[in-house]
Amino acid sequence: MTGISIKSLKQVLNLDDFEMLARRHLPKAIYGYVQGGADDGTCLIHNRDALAHIRLVPRVLRDVSACTQGVTLFGQHYASPFMIAPMGASAIVGHDADNAMAKAARVANIPYILSANAITPIEEIGRSYPGSWFAGYQKPDENNIDRMLKRVADAGFTAYFLTADVAVGSNRENNMRNGYTMPFRPTTRLALDMARHPSWLYRTGWRTLLQRGVPKISNIDPVQRPSIFSREITAVTGYASFSWKHAEMIRRLWKGAFIIKGILSPEDARLAREIGAEGVVVSNHGGRQLDCAVSPVEVLEAVKAQSNDMTVLVDSGFRRGTDIVKGLALGADAVIIGRPFLYAAAVGGQAGIKHAIRVLQRELHIDMSLLGVNSCRALREVERMQRHSGTA
Ligand code: FNR
Repeated sequence: MTGISIKSLKQVLNLDDFEMLARRHLPKAIYGYVQGGADDGTCLIHNRDALAHIRLVPRVLRDVSACTQGVTLFGQHYASPFMIAPMGASAIVGHDADNAMAKAARVANIPYILSANAITPIEEIGRSYPGSWFAGYQKPDENNIDRMLKRVADAGFTAYFLTADVAVGSNRENNMRNGYTMPFRPTTRLALDMARHPSWLYRTGWRTLLQRGVPKISNIDPVQRPSIFSREITAVTGYASFSWKHAEMIRRLWKGAFIIKGILSPEDARLAREIGAEGVVVSNHGGRQLDCAVSPVEVLEAVKAQSNDMTVLVDSGFRRGTDIVKGLALGADAVIIGRPFLYAAAVGGQAGIKHAIRVLQRELHIDMSLLGVNSCRALREVERMQRHSGTA
């Protein structure tokens, strides 16, 4: 049993529909962990607002019968200019969610990025989708970095993303209110919350325990795999003393594509370029870190201007084909999408994610055609206007 039936999936018309289903299916603490942002959730709302304020000027009579959304990233051709974000603890949200996301991405030929905070080991995902990408948090220690990079390379991953916007864990009050903690602390409230969501309890909770035992955070260390109950995982969000010096170390030791994730300042994009990174992800971590951070689309053009030939990816709040179009029109090479794919995994397993990818591909095809463009490259030329507050 993977979740909702294929028939019900047909009623999921857009990515937000998955969130409605996931909200009912998931224990409140787990839904809150995925949905929530930092502090007041201002950044979360602002990400959607900033995208909504951009309007596009369509061109007509341009023969779009050959419209294609393929894109080349780090030397590899992909079917669409979007991919699945790295998300920690996904396999607690949906049964075997990391594998489900990797396999669905592989079949659709879009990139998948595995998180260091995943429950599923790198080696397993390397088999599910050889050539996947990895997003790491690293100890600021050369020996540890070297051994970790070797582990990632040995598993067949081709790109290393350094998650750079996590110097410390952020303030997530929704987690505190709902009793979601890392390390996991079983409480009566949490047990009741889970018991009130039997579909999650059976399909994900029990099955995961039966098949894998107590979940472990599998990819934060070359060797150690602390259980989600272990005190060792208090540092899963990165290290305060981590600096550009360590990023340079990774660049020197990692032979594949090296990308810095969590850039919002054009100056930081320049530093990334100077140390030899192949790419940056313009991101505010989906509103989960600094609550008053700018939205990536507000700084994308300025970051792009400092990026020269680096690949520029963007994320945080992208939900529709039109959002992807806006990201590419502002200079991104591709867009990363997080929460909706995890909701799709939670309620529909691999079939759910496959459906989410198809929905987005269809929207993007319609939007590109209506804008009068035949390729992702041509989206750069699309004229944009900024809608000001108060206008229709
Ligand atoms: C994340 N994100 C994230 N990023 C990262 O680099 N490493 C990680 O371990 C995680 N973990 C994580 C867990 C969950 C539940 C979420 C929702 C997000 C951030 C993620 O990669 C991406 O930047 C945002 O999710 C993009 O925003 P949207 O699409 O979710 O709005």
